Amino acid sequence: MKGIRLKLFIYTSLLMILLLIFNILLQSSILNRYYSNTEKDKLISYAKVIEKNLLNPEELETEADRISSNLNARISIYDDRGNIIYKNYSHMMGMTGKIMNIEKSNLDLVLGGQIIYRTDEAMLRQSKIISLGYPAKVNNTEAAIFIHIPTVEIKSTVESLSKQFTYLLLIAILISFLGAYIISNKFTEPILKIKNAAKKISEGDYDIRLKINTDDEIEELSNTINVMAENLSKTEKLRRDFIANVTHEFRTPLGIIKGYAEALYDDIVPNEEKKQYIEDIIEEVEKLNRLVNENLELSKIESKSIKLNFQDFNLYDLLKDIVDKVKIIKGNRKINLSGQDLIIKGDMEYLERAILNIISNSIKHTKEDGLIEIDLKSDNGAVITIKDDGEGIDEKHLPYIFERFYRAKEKGAGGLGLSIAKEIIKLHSGEIKVYSKIGEGSTFEIKVPKS
Ligand SMILES: Nc1ncnc2c1ncn2[C@@H]1O[C@H](COP(=O)(O)OP(=O)(O)O)[C@@H](O)[C@H]1O
Ligand SMILES: [Mg+2]
Repeated sequence: MKGIRLKLFIYTSLLMILLLIFNILLQSSILNRYYSNTEKDKLISYAKVIEKNLLNPEELETEADRISSNLNARISIYDDRGNIIYKNYSHMMGMTGKIMNIEKSNLDLVLGGQIIYRTDEAMLRQSKIISLGYPAKVNNTEAAIFIHIPTVEIKSTVESLSKQFTYLLLIAILISFLGAYIISNKFTEPILKIKNAAKKISEGDYDIRLKINTDDEIEELSNTINVMAENLSKTEKLRRDFIANVTHEFRTPLGIIKGYAEALYDDIVPNEEKKQYIEDIIEEVEKLNRLVNENLELSKIESKSIKLNFQDFNLYDLLKDIVDKVKIIKGNRKINLSGQDLIIKGDMEYLERAILNIISNSIKHTKEDGLIEIDLKSDNGAVITIKDDGEGIDEKHLPYIFERFYRAKEKGAGGLGLSIAKEIIKLHSGEIKVYSKIGEGSTFEIKVPKS
């Protein structure tokens, strides 16, 4: 045993033992009082027997003798004038006459009708004397009966009881240790499990799952750790996928560049085609350039290391600007813009990037004479819809198109445009949705809060 388990064990044992000792002290003090009380009652009942036989000297003699021998006691009786009228010392060995000299004040008290019970008399052979003074009254005759007994009698009973108490105490302490052991184990077991799981996680084992049903904070903690491990394993998978994707995306353009460059170097390209080869190489390099830049951009946005410059502006004006900008790439496609002026709070540059990404996708995925409709309306925020009549997206791809590098069709590089758009809109506390059917075009809906 060590660590938290040992600590818990020690503290619980200490607490239990302290409680036990307190309990035993309490009990023995109660027991002592009880014994001294019963002792008093016992002596009084003997005194009453003597009182009954006070006027009958013969009977008195036998009773007093019996009591005296039973209790190892001394008995003396005084009349109302304070003269001793009876004494029985026969059984109390070694008691001097001095003890029998009842103090005048005590005698007066008893003759005055008061019971005296004292346990603080002088020592006699290592044993205290208990004295009872009892006022007797028979047929107008008053007397004071005194009984003295040594405490050895009581002591031995108390002693044997304390011995039993000691045994009980020892057994109770053993039980305390056992209890403390069980409790400390029960409490620390789940904590140790959690500790071990956390250690495994720190070593990179994210598959570990804790099963703890304690129905308390420890169970909550274990659930949190499970969620953490799950998230870490997701992140790890993302990281691996990311590296795999990046590698994959780089490989194709690099292959083309290498192949074309080698062909040019080896002079196996006909002169009239050389220019085309070089153009292709430049195009692939541009693709790679774009890939690197977009990746960097997305990482920055995701890690929130960019600083957004929030300001109020008219979103409709921004849409007009964007439509103007895409004129060069739209070809013969028709772009309709409708809607109303709407002031929102946001970073104009980044929002432009997001919207531009979506509109250029629409252009890319519609036919030469396609139609793209852009609309801005106010509905619980600013809602931009970008609708095209292009090829549409297969239902099975829809949930993934916002993921990095996801492409519904295997051609061209990139696949980051929608991821970037989504992250930017998220930073504006907005949301983006897509509705599409293959062959029927796609509609993207962006919603951002109004200012
Ligand atoms: N308007 C659209 N019509 C059809 N498919 C689309 C449209 N917009 C996006 N997609 C699909 O979603 C994928 C991801 O888009 P995006 O993240 O912008 O990457 P990229 O355009 O570089 O391929 C695209 O490859 C395409 O398959
Ligand atoms: Mg795109």
